[in-house]
Amino acid sequence: MWLLIHKSGKTYLAPDRATYNTEYGLVELKGGYTKSSTGEEFLVTRPGFVDLWMRIKRGPQIAHWKDLGLIAALTGIGPGSRVLEVGAGSGFSTLFWAHLVGERGRVLSYEKNPKHYALLVENIEKFGFSHLEVLPDDPRKVGVKEKDFDLAFLDVPDPWELVHIVGDSLRPGAFLVSYLPTVEQVKRLEESLDGFTEPAVHEVIHREWKLGGRTRPLSSGILHTAFIVVARKIR
Ligand SMILES: C[S@@+](CC[C@H](N)C(=O)[O-])C[C@H]1O[C@@H](n2cnc3c(N)ncnc32)[C@H](O)[C@@H]1O
Repeated sequence: MWLLIHKSGKTYLAPDRATYNTEYGLVELKGGYTKSSTGEEFLVTRPGFVDLWMRIKRGPQIAHWKDLGLIAALTGIGPGSRVLEVGAGSGFSTLFWAHLVGERGRVLSYEKNPKHYALLVENIEKFGFSHLEVLPDDPRKVGVKEKDFDLAFLDVPDPWELVHIVGDSLRPGAFLVSYLPTVEQVKRLEESLDGFTEPAVHEVIHREWKLGGRTRPLSSGILHTAFIVVARKIR
């Protein structure tokens, strides 16, 4: 695979072959700086994690990157951490955890919907993470097969059903984070958090700006995605 970067910031992912056609003309795939058939400059290089991750096939609603970034900062998840996830969907958050924790870490993720699971497997195969395992199960039925996780990320509509099950798999002091679109869900989760600290609730509002003369925020974008509920295991 090649990654083509144009001055505009636009990127293209190209298979291993001689040339690739873009809206700026035909580009030779040799690596390094090159000019397209219409004289436009490109850098041709190999794709990194973000280039592949942002392009995975989408199925159910993903956890937005603006929110995943905050969760990483608040929980300190990094190289060597152990992450348990329920609700992998097509794997957007799953792959982010796997990238952050690296080979010394571990990600175990559950996805109960067979259609979503098939897409998840297809998506994660391209990354070849040996420290990531995905299971086609519902932990409410099968339990969680490992312990001592540093973070449980629950991206499901009814996380209160899972608090006790995943709670047993967290080390003391570990984080439980739930990603919930409505206040009603947040309130219900709060009532179920036995053995955890009182939760903090966050929302991330992100605005991208347009440069070039009439500098201002873009007039369209994503506003509300979900509330991020963060609690720590104390019992
Ligand atoms: C919003 S999607 C998850 C998106 C994913 N975290 C991402 O960022 O791409 C929610 C997923 O949770 C799954 N799910 C819901 N309840 C579950 C449960 N109890 N056990 C396992 N998977 C569950 C659904 O099938 C669905 O695919």
